[in-house]
Amino acid sequence: MEELSEKYADEVKLLCEKATKQSGGVCIFLAESMQSCGGQIVFPPGYLRQVYKHVRAAGGLCLADEVQVGFGRVGSHMWAFQTQGDDIVPDIVTLGKPMGNGHPVSAVITTRKIAERFGATGMEYFNTFGGNPVSTAIADAVLDVIENEKLMENATNVGNYLLQEFNCLKQKHTIIGDVRGRGMFLGLDLVRNRETREPATAEAAFINKRLKEQCVLLSCDGPYANVLKFKPPIVFSVEDAKELVKKLDSVMLEMEKAENEVNGVLEKLSVNGTTVNSSSHTQSLRNGQHNEIQVKGEVNAKQCDAQCTIWKPQFSRRYGLNRVIYSLLSASMCTMINLYIFLVFQINCRFMLSVHVSKHSLKYDKYIKYIENYGARPLLVLLLSMACCQLG
Ligand SMILES: Cc1ncc(COP(=O)(O)O)c(C=O)c1O
Repeated sequence: MEELSEKYADEVKLLCEKATKQSGGVCIFLAESMQSCGGQIVFPPGYLRQVYKHVRAAGGLCLADEVQVGFGRVGSHMWAFQTQGDDIVPDIVTLGKPMGNGHPVSAVITTRKIAERFGATGMEYFNTFGGNPVSTAIADAVLDVIENEKLMENATNVGNYLLQEFNCLKQKHTIIGDVRGRGMFLGLDLVRNRETREPATAEAAFINKRLKEQCVLLSCDGPYANVLKFKPPIVFSVEDAKELVKKLDSVMLEMEKAENEVNGVLEKLSVNGTTVNSSSHTQSLRNGQHNEIQVKGEVNAKQCDAQCTIWKPQFSRRYGLNRVIYSLLSASMCTMINLYIFLVFQINCRFMLSVHVSKHSLKYDKYIKYIENYGARPLLVLLLSMACCQLG
């Protein structure tokens, strides 16, 4: 691992040397202490130590961005840079998001020397809401809650549980290429092939979408957006984690089942003498949209049958009886509301008042009469609203 960190740190060293040659040095090395949007990457041990050494040798400062990974999320430490060793001390630390548990507050922490140098430039730092007592009180309360409710301990326990469960899922689902992270900062790296490590970007998008439909919010990160990012609030419990793992497992099974179905159908078709472009069907499965799985290749009647087999369960789920009844109800409700609004605006108020007062006794033929009196516009509104509802 130390060797690995040296290799990565050497890239920074090269850049520092290049910058020194070209422009006399380095200004700052700015990095998250664990790469979140970069793909939930945990630096190998010793990485920051070596990088900081190279940057400082080139005259640069080292900034640790703890906006996503700070405030106890990693469990073992309050700040993620601390996981790299007690001797790792950044020159500047930036804090944000979890600092106010939703309230907008952030902070920059630095040494007196740097702050004074900044002050000496004469540049006035101005911020309308900077240092306001409400935000400060909230940030203070957040620190108390982290401490009193032992949330760092929780991050470690639930995070370890999730790591263990994700590793079990990895045995079951070949799409999981890597499980990584620490505390409540975890990532599942999805790949189409564990050898080539081809990123499973569309699959990650599909899983993300299906989980969202089941009220589980994740995001896909990394340069190829193929890493499922688990960064829940650190009050997340083991029960929550169990639910998450169960749902994740079922979505992955669903995806694999659909893929097998398509592959099975295609195999059958090729036995029947149909030409199938094998790469195109795999591609089509990977468009990230289960509902839109399409068997491509040579379009002929047999393939259309194959498509129907796969689409059927999707169709009945999306356009089932409930949905039809719901559409009809909402169409009629919207129609009535639109008609009412139309009448309010098109006809004088006194008339509307009478409609309103007598609305319980108002009969259908009266509406028809109004429609006749006021031309085709109400009808148009009615038809348009029904069309909108059906589209919706
Ligand atoms: C890692 C990281 N650093 C910095 C920021 C910027 O934070 P702010 O929006 O508070 O300026 C973000 C925001 O998403 C972030 O994720």
